[in-house]
Amino acid sequence: MTRGGPPVRVGVLASGRGSNLQAILDATRDPDFPARVVVVISDREEARALERAAARGVPAVHLNSKDYADRDRYDRAIVGVLAEHRVDLVCLAGFMRILGPGLVHAFAGRIMNIHPALLPAFPGLAAQRQALEYGVKITGATVHFVDEGVDTGPIILQAGVPVRPEDTEETLSERILVEEHSLYPRAIRLFAEGRLRIAGRRVLVEATP
Ligand code: GRF
Repeated sequence: MTRGGPPVRVGVLASGRGSNLQAILDATRDPDFPARVVVVISDREEARALERAAARGVPAVHLNSKDYADRDRYDRAIVGVLAEHRVDLVCLAGFMRILGPGLVHAFAGRIMNIHPALLPAFPGLAAQRQALEYGVKITGATVHFVDEGVDTGPIILQAGVPVRPEDTEETLSERILVEEHSLYPRAIRLFAEGRLRIAGRRVLVEATP
């Protein structure tokens, strides 16, 4: 949390394509952006996210869960890498694993996730398909703090996206993704500016100091 201090050190956890990671990396190119990505960790060796990190000279670490006896030990390995890079804020960006209590508590109030729906609607996998199948007229994207549940933590920012009659899962996902890419850097900036306060289930955004 910087107020004119050094940039907040962000660790990104990603399993795949990494377009949200890219949006965050692009935002941090602005010298005035108050955060920097200092490490990217993936559970999948072939994750495009690792390539994107490496292309920007950001340490890219693959941790294979099969190398660890159980989730707790795997999570401890993640915490170890995050600590080694002195990470202040953990951003999940398409990370396809549920974090265990050890990891969540090690970074309590300092882990964010992005979800392609207006939570609490359509948590879990294939949120865009769930929205289409349910028949909602508006869906969107949510950035929230992470607790031990699946997509249940306090909501930081949301953006709505209208569902069009001709939408497929692909076209809807594409339009939601556009919103995701602006929402995540905005949430990180608010955190880094020390403007987010968690009050029970609500996240209050304080005015610019
Ligand atoms: C995004 O839709 C995000 O909301 C969800 O997983 C997807 C990740 O996409 N959690 P990418 O890897 O950031 O491109």
